Amino acid sequence: MKIKQSRFMISAVTKSQYPESDLPELAFAGRSNVGKSSLINMLLNRKGLAKTSSTPGKTQLVNFYDIDGLFRFVDLPGYGFAKVSKAQKASWGKIIETYLTQRENLLEVFQLVDIRHKPTGEDREMYDWIRSFGFRGIVFATKADKLSRSQCAAQVKVIRKTLEMPPEAPLVLLSSDNRSGKYDAWDLINRLFEEEGLEIFVERQSATAEK
Ligand code: GTP
Ligand code: MG
Repeated sequence: MKIKQSRFMISAVTKSQYPESDLPELAFAGRSNVGKSSLINMLLNRKGLAKTSSTPGKTQLVNFYDIDGLFRFVDLPGYGFAKVSKAQKASWGKIIETYLTQRENLLEVFQLVDIRHKPTGEDREMYDWIRSFGFRGIVFATKADKLSRSQCAAQVKVIRKTLEMPPEAPLVLLSSDNRSGKYDAWDLINRLFEEEGLEIFVERQSATAEK
């Protein structure tokens, strides 16, 4: 299939606000400002579908995006944003935890890290958490346009080591800026669908069809 229509569904806080759990969901987790919303837009060839901002803390709720009524992307609130109260941090943590632990149609959750930085303690916690729920531990390293090839290669080693990634866990280098890694990400997503016995295959499409 080629993606015909992707649309924003709802921003949810509580489980009761989630859409029906009838479609497989792929979620994007990571620090605030790492590029979760930008990546969703890049993958879907849509500029402003997920709201992005250079100010951290833009996405504070669980945002659901429907893709052709076949599957969904889920943009999770970013963690590690310093300028919030402890109470607010705890409430975001709870929002993420509720989604990750209670969503039965969650197919996979991707951990995003900024290629330029060594993953933080919170990234490690998140990654361990994701793995402990039985997910594959797939890492998307964002903002690859900001470093040279050799710098990227060095940082990949740092990320793998710091997160203690199992050797078989995929790490994909991505840039929402120059769109590199887009097809690697879709190849991986298609593989996930196949492994789960789902008859969904997203064909390559260039960004010229941008809406
Ligand atoms: P929260 O919603 O706060 O959790 O942030 P987010 O993870 O959704 O980040 P968002 O997509 O809003 O991007 C944050 C900033 O990083 C924006 O200014 C983006 O333009 C920029 N950005 C995101 N991805 C890339 C990338 O691949 N390359 C470059 N150069 N900038 C990027
Ligand atoms: Mg966001």
